[in-house]
Amino acid sequence: MSTRFRETDRLQISTVGKVRSQLRTDVAFGLRQSQKTLPPKYFYDAYGSRLFEDICQQPEYYLTRTEAQILRTHAAAIVRQTAGASLVELGSGSAVKTRLLFDEYQRRDHLLHYVPIDISASMLEETARGLLTDYPTMSIEALATDYLAGLTVLPNTRPRLVLFLGSNLGNFSPAEQTELFQHLAAYLHPGDQFLLGLDLRKSVEVLEAAYNDAAGVTADFNLNILRHINRELQADFNLAQFSHLAFYNQELHQIEMHLKSEVAQDVTIAALDLTVSFQVGETIHTEISRKFDAQEVKEQLIGHGFQYQSQWTDPDNRFLLSLFRYTG
Ligand code: TRP
Repeated sequence: MSTRFRETDRLQISTVGKVRSQLRTDVAFGLRQSQKTLPPKYFYDAYGSRLFEDICQQPEYYLTRTEAQILRTHAAAIVRQTAGASLVELGSGSAVKTRLLFDEYQRRDHLLHYVPIDISASMLEETARGLLTDYPTMSIEALATDYLAGLTVLPNTRPRLVLFLGSNLGNFSPAEQTELFQHLAAYLHPGDQFLLGLDLRKSVEVLEAAYNDAAGVTADFNLNILRHINRELQADFNLAQFSHLAFYNQELHQIEMHLKSEVAQDVTIAALDLTVSFQVGETIHTEISRKFDAQEVKEQLIGHGFQYQSQWTDPDNRFLLSLFRYTG
């Protein structure tokens, strides 16, 4: 772990793990599978993180707006039930929604200590700078890494409230979800809390529209994984010859996202000394976004040593925020 200190002692940014060498291994592995895959964390270079913020503003993408509405409506109750905690956020991004909680904590003269964990170091730094200006008493210990690695090096401030918003849990497979819950149970202490934002099951039309916005921002975001690989691994993916494909799988209750090769083509990845052939119509699977049954997740967390505390939803029951306490 390498650590840099900024703006006196209120901001500390640590990078955990070897991001570049992991990219090489992940890409080589994923593109050699019969169903080619690429790990979604590589959407998020500086440009990808900006595109993601843009997705959140699209009219069809109801998730962010709905979750923000729940946070705004219930901030006082959430803050009352989590008083005294330092805030750890998995996948913090721009932290726009988290500010709704910060505002409420600050109104109650709560000391703000924030531990954002995000794969994009540039996003962490930009977000942290804005927060330090707007919240003069806040201190930040940022971790540039993926969720699981971040949890293993959590600072020892207690109690902690771990925020996992945006239905980011939906981007995990069921096996990865179990692994995350095991990690939480291993690295949290009794009394720590977990606030989880989940997108609930709903009509196929609403779900598919959310991941196929008319402005094409989600498509550009999906394609950005190829841009990222072109730059970092000297590859020659021609973005004009791949298209965005997102549809709802009813059996698995998940949106599936792919990049479809529009032609038969060979792609060279110089840094890996690898040539990858695509048939016409062949896809690279890049992302899933699972839609949840609240009761199932609740029962699973209880099985990992969590106690259910509260939940909040919007008037149309699109999205759910649930609060748990780790009891060990
Ligand atoms: N977790 C959110 C979701 O599943 C945000 C997200 C993650 C997303 N990856 C994405 C949105 C890819 C669009 C495309 O919706």
